[in-house]
Amino acid sequence: MIYFFYITFYISIFHKCCGVTVEKAGPASVESTNPTVAEKQAFLQLFGNGDPDEAASCGQLIESRGFQYERYYVTTEDGYILQNFRIINPYAREARNTLKPVLLVHPILASCASWLFNSPASLGFLLANLGYDVWLINARGTSYSTNHTHLDPEGNSFYPVFWDYSFYEIGIYDVTSTVEHIKNETGFEKITVVAYSQGSIQMITQMSLMPWFQDNYDIVILAAPAGFVGEYGFFASIPNKPAQEFFSSSNGPYPSNSAFFYSSLSALCVNQLASPICVTFFGNLGFDRNQFNASRLSVYISLRDRSSKKNLLHIFQSVERDHLSFFDYGEVKNYALYGSAEPPEFPYYNINPNKLIFMSGLNDQVIDQRNVQKFRNSLCDRVDTDHIIQDPYWKHSFLAANEAYAYFGSVVADLIRERGDSTECRLNLSGN
Ligand SMILES: *[C@@H]1O[C@H](CO)[C@@H](O)[C@H](O)[C@H]1NC(C)=O
Ligand SMILES: *[C@@H]1O[C@H](CO)[C@@H](O)[C@H](O)[C@H]1NC(C)=O
Ligand SMILES: *[C@@H]1O[C@H](CO)[C@@H](O)[C@H](O)[C@H]1NC(C)=O
Ligand SMILES: *[C@@H]1O[C@H](CO)[C@@H](O)[C@H](O)[C@H]1NC(C)=O
Repeated sequence: MIYFFYITFYISIFHKCCGVTVEKAGPASVESTNPTVAEKQAFLQLFGNGDPDEAASCGQLIESRGFQYERYYVTTEDGYILQNFRIINPYAREARNTLKPVLLVHPILASCASWLFNSPASLGFLLANLGYDVWLINARGTSYSTNHTHLDPEGNSFYPVFWDYSFYEIGIYDVTSTVEHIKNETGFEKITVVAYSQGSIQMITQMSLMPWFQDNYDIVILAAPAGFVGEYGFFASIPNKPAQEFFSSSNGPYPSNSAFFYSSLSALCVNQLASPICVTFFGNLGFDRNQFNASRLSVYISLRDRSSKKNLLHIFQSVERDHLSFFDYGEVKNYALYGSAEPPEFPYYNINPNKLIFMSGLNDQVIDQRNVQKFRNSLCDRVDTDHIIQDPYWKHSFLAANEAYAYFGSVVADLIRERGDSTECRLNLSGN
């Protein structure tokens, strides 16, 4: 008994000192680790269509496919407490620190579930099956990572400081701490990153502003690489000024009540009458009907997540400038912060193209091929591998597509095997 006390005591000291908690699958309830997901589940139990994946937590999705997981709490340099997941292949449980780590970076208004929700072909499970050590980040402000060492996310003033962040902080702090934590945990010198859509924005931000940090990567796969979003494509078609006005009118989470927003939308889209409208709406967002399983729509909607309004504002500023740049606070504050009236652009020439792999869609209307071409032209060299998906029905649905395995997952797996630093892969399953 007394030993148990000592062990608990030392573990709690360790938590305080390093900001990292390891938790094996099992004991923690969805309510305690993600109250928003618990709320969605309560709603969809009444109004959903009964698909077991609806509003499932990442832990539940992982276990439902026969894998196990570990949950880690990682504290960033500016105090945000992220809840990250690691998929454990039960056949390689003991060997997990010898498997090559791959970090998957989710898109905007999404979470770790992005890599787990495609019924037959999720990239998270595909890579775990192939013997990779798969890590899933949850950016600050998602329902998994709404905690801070001293800021209150619930603080309901006009401008709650917890929500005062954008993709800049996610790239500079969240990705950085997560990569360092994975390296600490596994002992690997270099890790592989796969980032999709806004995930790619965060990687571009970090690689251009912290070029020295690129040593930690062997390859970085950018799916729908979003260095430029202003001139062509979906974001360019949205009236920019009204969008900026909307997202700058106050700060806080967006959607402000994400549990109710997504679960009610999900339930609505199950309805026979509303379903075609939902499918059309999501079709316009870049999801092709031929790649889109309409009967899974409620699942995909229910698994979306939130971000900050400031993040969306920063995106629309980047659309207006047609370049990722520091946040625009207006002339006076810009001078004080940056020494210039305009916020400086992120220096893409700092990015090491030899570590980059592009995966883009010829017909992706969100990250239009002409935008991708501008990004290619802005780099100091050719990217290592430039893979263009030619299928006419393949748009922006890299994660939810019916043929995600054929066009995305299997290609990513081949690229990691061929281009990743294979000498580091110490897979040895014979002991298990
Ligand atoms: C937030 O983090 C603090 C400090 O680690 C912890 O004590 C608290 O339980 C966390 N709250 C939630 C809701 O996870
Ligand atoms: C990684 O380990 C170093 C050295 O022990 C420590 O200073 C740092 O806080 C750790 N970082 C993370 C994110 O765990
Ligand atoms: C679409 O989803 C439904 C419900 O999950 C499933 O039964 C069906 O097999 C899926 N269709 C395809 C083409 O994946
Ligand atoms: C793999 O592990 C087994 C059992 O632990 C060991 O006997 C064998 O030498 C290892 N093989 C390699 C290539 O390290």
